[in-house]
Formats: sequence, structure tokens, C-alpha cells
Amino acid sequence: MRINGTTALYGLMGHPVEHSFSPFLQNLFAKKIGKNMVYVTFNVDEGQLESAVEGLRALNIKGVNVTVPYKVEIMQYLDHIDEVARNIGAVNTIKVENDQLIGYNTDWLGLLASLNERDVYLKDKSVLIIGAGGGARAVAVMCAKEGAKKITITNRTLSKAKDLCALIESQYQIETETVHFEALKERTDLRIAFQTTSVGMYPHIENNPVYETKFYKTLDVAIDLIYNPIETHFLKEAREAGALTINGLGMLFHQGIIAFELWHGLKMGESIKDTCYNVFLDEIVNAD
Ligand code: ATR
Repeated sequence: MRINGTTALYGLMGHPVEHSFSPFLQNLFAKKIGKNMVYVTFNVDEGQLESAVEGLRALNIKGVNVTVPYKVEIMQYLDHIDEVARNIGAVNTIKVENDQLIGYNTDWLGLLASLNERDVYLKDKSVLIIGAGGGARAVAVMCAKEGAKKITITNRTLSKAKDLCALIESQYQIETETVHFEALKERTDLRIAFQTTSVGMYPHIENNPVYETKFYKTLDVAIDLIYNPIETHFLKEAREAGALTINGLGMLFHQGIIAFELWHGLKMGESIKDTCYNVFLDEIVNAD
């Protein structure tokens, strides 16, 4: 990498940010595409977000990603927010154009790309979402936009699942319902299940939001947004019951691709994407 007077700066705002794979990914894309840029992490302390956002403008930074815990709070400081990002209620990518800060959400698009590349499509499907937090909101909006037939949501705190159903019904023409965890094993109509909670994430990898083996028997596809471990207990159960399983690595990779494309106004070719994905997998395997 050659840094000179015209090198553009991009980055990730969050707290903490030390273990993010985004710098690795974005600098890899820049190298493969030949962009004169560097992508670094900005560890923004609590209470400093507004100043950090103003700093983007002042320093002529062209784009940043936003991560935990600022994906919601950041929205109040932006000039425009893309409609889907507003519906999801979270922004993970900012593009600075003519001094205007525009917020997008590439998480849902990244997840959709990772489903489609495995030939999973949501149109007219009945889907189950486990969880009702930020990740679940992105999944629910994605399913609604893709024309799913019905969205069923289960969550430890059922009132939050009800709130999410109400939100989705107010924005999209789609049928929703909530279901108790305990009732899941009785359902045979839920063929696609999204696991969006933090249950099963490293280091608590033995945990699983659904233990009943009967639940997994009727699943065609199981998706877990978690990528560490690569196969959660949830995905292992689903795979052993015969379902196609998809972890969160593809979503992580593709949200980065989509942010890169958005910032630079280009589309990356399939073969460059494939090369980058293989390099990324090597990095993940060797990460400590
Ligand atoms: P994210 O933005 O990553 O989705 P979040 O908004 O904090 O994170 O949401 C976390 C989700 O994981 C919620 O659905 C939460 O359930 P509650 O709404 O009942 O809190 C779920 N979750 C977290 N820990 C859990 C646990 N031990 N058992 C079951 N669900 C859990």
C-alpha cells in the first residue's frame, strides 16, 4: 500500500472496535480494486458521537461504517437516511456527499446477498425469526421487502416480539404473528428460521435458544447471524436434521462489499468477490 497526499480515509465508528474484521475487508477490497484509500477503526467513547460525526465533515472523510453501540444513536446526527434504514431503525454505513451525511443500512442487503448466493429466496415463504432486537428488525424488514408470506417472531421477552410485529405491519403489507418458545416444537409450517439473538455466541458456544430436536425436523433452511463460532449449536442441530445452514460470515462479507460499492459508486465483479471471500476466510480461520 502506498499512502500519499491524495489517500482517502474511511473507517469504522464504534466502541469497542478492536476485534472488527471491517478494516481487513475494506483494505483488501481497496487493494484488489486499486483505490487509493485506507480504512481504520475510530474508537468513539461514550458521549463523543456527535463530535465524531462533525469530525467526519470537518476532515472531509468520505465514508464510515457504524457499529455497536451507535447504529441507532447515529441517526439523529445525519442529514438524510435511506428509507429502508429508517424502517429498520439502524444505520451501519454513512456516505458523505457534498458535505451531506447520508445513512444507509447494508446489513440487510448483505444478509440477502448471502441467502441468494445459496439459492435461498424469501418470496411467498413463511419465516420464523428468533429474537426481537436490532438484528431481528433488519431480518424482518428484509423478509417483508422480499415478499415473504408470513413472519412469525419468537423472543424471550414476548412483548418485544409483539412490538416488532406491529412495526412491520405498520410499514409493510404482510401478515405477522408471535409465538412462545415452548410452542415452537408444535409448528411444522416454519421452513426458514433466522436466529438473531446473541445466544450461542463465543464464548458461550454451548447455548442455544431452541433445544427441542423436533423443532429442527421440519426446517428447510436455518440462518444464524452469528459468525463466531462458524457453526453455532443452533446450526449444528439444524444441519444434523437435514436443513441447509447459513452462518453470519456471508452477511458480514457482503455488507462490507455493499458499503464499498456505495462509497465508490461501482459494482465489484463476481470473480474479485470470490477471491476476496477466500482471503477473508483464511483471515477468519487464522484470527486469534
Ligand atoms: P442485536 O442488535 O444484536 O439484535 P439486541 O438488540 O440487544 O442485540 O437484542 C438481543 C436479542 O437477543 C433479543 O431478542 C434478546 O431477547 P430479549 O428481548 O428477551 O432480551 C435476545 N437474547 C439475549 N440474551 C438472551 C438469552 N440469554 N436468552 C434468550 N434470548 C436472549
